[in-house]
Amino acid sequence: MNSWKNKIPTPALVLDYDIMEKNMQYVTKIAKEAGVNLRQHVKTPKIPLVAHIQKRIAGDTAKGIAVAKVGEAEIYAQAGFDDILIANQVIVPDHIERMMRLNKYTLTRCVVDSKKNVSDLNKAADKFNITLEVLIDIDLGMGRTGVKPGEPAVELARFLKNQRHLRLVGLQGYEGHLTPQTDYDLRKQQTEEAMRELIATRDAINALGFEIDYLSSSGSGTFMFSAPIDGITEIQPGTYVFADEHICRVVPEFEPAVTVLSTIQNSTGKRLYTMDAGLKAFPTGDGRPEIKELHRARFRVITEEHSQFKAGPNDQLQIGDKIELIPAHICITVNIYDFIHVIRGGEYIGRWPILARGKNY
Ligand SMILES: Cc1ncc(COP(=O)(O)O)c(C=O)c1O
Repeated sequence: MNSWKNKIPTPALVLDYDIMEKNMQYVTKIAKEAGVNLRQHVKTPKIPLVAHIQKRIAGDTAKGIAVAKVGEAEIYAQAGFDDILIANQVIVPDHIERMMRLNKYTLTRCVVDSKKNVSDLNKAADKFNITLEVLIDIDLGMGRTGVKPGEPAVELARFLKNQRHLRLVGLQGYEGHLTPQTDYDLRKQQTEEAMRELIATRDAINALGFEIDYLSSSGSGTFMFSAPIDGITEIQPGTYVFADEHICRVVPEFEPAVTVLSTIQNSTGKRLYTMDAGLKAFPTGDGRPEIKELHRARFRVITEEHSQFKAGPNDQLQIGDKIELIPAHICITVNIYDFIHVIRGGEYIGRWPILARGKNY
């Protein structure tokens, strides 16, 4: 058995550095070929060092970072990042004030999708004596946030024009609803259609007298289609860094770089084994993890601290053996760990704190 597995107290989160590097190299290659900026969405890794590694690999192609929450922005600002896009609406007064304060020492933008929020931000920017740069969030079919493309977006841009303390610098269109589409051609076609809507909306807004050329879009399942489109200037994928069972099914070029390591602690016979990792080690809200290498093993029961699986007929297992699990959804898994153990070249190289975990406020 690999000796590093015995060094790590379980349950634990484990990163294979070499696989993460390969995932980063794949996205970097596509971004470079297309001539777009790569803004890593750090809601997946939540470790500033990982964004620095992406920067080392991609050089100037890696431009700034995207975050989901002000709390994440604060951690990354303290880690020296100075171009942060909160790819989300900032609504709550406390969050708005903290974003304004961040802008006193680091460029921190956010996206907007309502007049009410725009007015609140304008008032706060006035109070803090700053000009806040914003992007309009365009709903490209996901139906989660954003204004509809075309006239609703133009109307919001018109409203923004009269806000003295805000500056409209670009548009964001995140077509996350297309990520699970495993049919490559369909995913490509639908992403291209979504990007056409984004570009047409930019043109309609520019007809008001704006000169916007900053269009930020796409996650790990669709960036390869949007990046080459003329007019798209930036991609903002995040899951690709660590990858998970879901994204690897859609994009075979990615490999899961992070697993949950656990130990078999009991066997009740009939090929049934209990391990020391349950719901507190791998959230199953988005599906159960895959048991690495034991292709015929199936979960029977998952409780808080344990889970039991039935092994395949040829699986040779003993109490004390280590089991690796590939999370279904890596972002919510990383969020529950304080640190990640790192393996490079087959050797244990240490543990990194997950500094932005839990910063969803
Ligand atoms: C606005 C926005 N941009 C980018 C991403 C990154 O997408 P992915 O995790 O598929 O890489 C997300 C993910 O939730 C998102 O909400």
